[in-house]
Amino acid sequence: MKGVVLAGGTGSRLFPLTKITNKHLLPIFDKPMIYYPIQTLVDAGIRDILIVTGGRNAGDFLRLLANGKDFGLSHLDYTYQEGEGGIAEALALAEHFADGQKLCVILGDNIIEGSIRDAVEEFRKQPEGARILLKEVPDAERFGVAEIQDGRIINIEEKPANPRSNYAVTGIYMYDATVFQKIRRLVPSKRNELEITDVNNAYIREGTMRFNFLEGWWTDAGTFDSLLRAANLVAATRKAAKEVAV
Ligand code: DAU
Repeated sequence: MKGVVLAGGTGSRLFPLTKITNKHLLPIFDKPMIYYPIQTLVDAGIRDILIVTGGRNAGDFLRLLANGKDFGLSHLDYTYQEGEGGIAEALALAEHFADGQKLCVILGDNIIEGSIRDAVEEFRKQPEGARILLKEVPDAERFGVAEIQDGRIINIEEKPANPRSNYAVTGIYMYDATVFQKIRRLVPSKRNELEITDVNNAYIREGTMRFNFLEGWWTDAGTFDSLLRAANLVAATRKAAKEVAV
């Protein structure tokens, strides 16, 4: 399975921090944000990784990550999203890279405590379709929200005012190669983006969407509050690990 990190968009919710650099290059405790999703993929055994970025600072990703040696990789792929037409638009740019294989996609601002290895292994064995990771949260209205009935997801609503559950759809998605046909059929949403939630709903309608619950903490880092929260969670986890080691 190949991996894709989506690190495009303008990061407008973090202005002026993102006025002169890309959101995914901002620090989360002791590392640039993008290090965390890359490490999540590498820890799941994925070695073939594409970074999708955009904006005015795309060259900085190459200088920072080079061929991925900080992650034990000998190669990284890069591509460039013009504009910020949405997560699904950014993912469409991975079609050539995917070359018919399954993909594990992670948003560049999603940071997790644990591992996705088991879910990735289950998806390797899944003959077709998609698999997403859910997390119970107190503020579901900030996310895509999954409605579950009889052990299956029956619908996902993007940032609903009145969420039907507390299960947020995290920014970790696994897709078979039909994802690109599904993206081609999308129409832009009210916020003028191609929505990843519409891609996921297409798999739900087809009956091929599966899910796991994510263990450990999860956060995005796209707002001032979540950026601070991410840094605090990483710092506390790092400290706790050191205390255990002593
Ligand atoms: O964090 C999980 C949530 O991410 C999901 O629950 C939502 O369903 C999903 O829509 C998304 O919501 P956000 O509104 O928080 O996404 P945001 O626009 O902040 O974009 C998240 C990442 O996606 C961003 O760090 C980089 C990538 N992205 C986003 C856009 C809009 C791109 O690569 N290109 C883009 O055009």
